[in-house]
Amino acid sequence: MITGLHHYALEVPDLAVADGFLQDFGLETKEQAGTLVALCPGRDQEQVRLLEAPAKRLHHVAFTLAPGTLDAIRESLDRAGTPVIDPPPGAVAPDGLWLRPARPAAEVLANVGGTHQRTGIAQWQLATLDVAPRRLGHTLLFTPQPREMTTFYTNVLGLGVSDTIAGGAVTFLNAGPGDHHVFGFIASTHPGFHHASFEVPSIDAIGLGADRMRSRGRDPGWGLGRHTIGSNFFHYNPDPWGSWIEWFSDIDQIDDCWVAGDWDVPPHLWGAPPPETFLANLEPPRP
Ligand SMILES: [Fe+2]
Repeated sequence: MITGLHHYALEVPDLAVADGFLQDFGLETKEQAGTLVALCPGRDQEQVRLLEAPAKRLHHVAFTLAPGTLDAIRESLDRAGTPVIDPPPGAVAPDGLWLRPARPAAEVLANVGGTHQRTGIAQWQLATLDVAPRRLGHTLLFTPQPREMTTFYTNVLGLGVSDTIAGGAVTFLNAGPGDHHVFGFIASTHPGFHHASFEVPSIDAIGLGADRMRSRGRDPGWGLGRHTIGSNFFHYNPDPWGSWIEWFSDIDQIDDCWVAGDWDVPPHLWGAPPPETFLANLEPPRP
């Protein structure tokens, strides 16, 4: 029933700080009724919503549904005894959300493995043409109850488990055929937002984005590397509130035949190991 991630929303202490950070990352921003909304260039769809509050906290996550399945979701929630609440202040009502296709990306021709697709073309002259984020791909949250959360999101909302690390220390969830993961959990002492990830058109776009962040005085972050689970190229930057934002490219695509595994692997196939702060949940616990 869920087809993907629509947007995520955070409470943050300073919208001006958030605005500068998200613009350096490559998103476009606009003020909307006292909130800050961020969009991927060339796509008129909210991907991030930021509300001003004393401390940084996850506010909500919005998913997209297959057309005509809202009633089925409501029935499934009802069967599970999960109350349906009104949208929290600052959120947009579900019927006010629309899904627009990601900005088209040009074909990236590669000369890799046994395949030579690019002849007579200088890649370095093309690599800088389109480096902006195209779409929000996934977000991972901290939770003290990864098993219960996974059961809820799979049995009630219809997501699937793609893979886990270390028996559920990290859980990756899919919305059917497509990206290896659109959502997931990291076991922690309390709930929190870990990271959100945006697809860019190429590995060059990741490297160029990381250079742009460094040139603007931002923390160098973590990357470039290739992940194990999901296989995507990645680079992460710490956001101003102790969580992370990621560019990704070349993520595994799964089909209905995908078989989930439980793996004992580090997060990176190659590249520098993650900073010690990578899995720190700095979000204040809710009272
Ligand atoms: Fe990620």
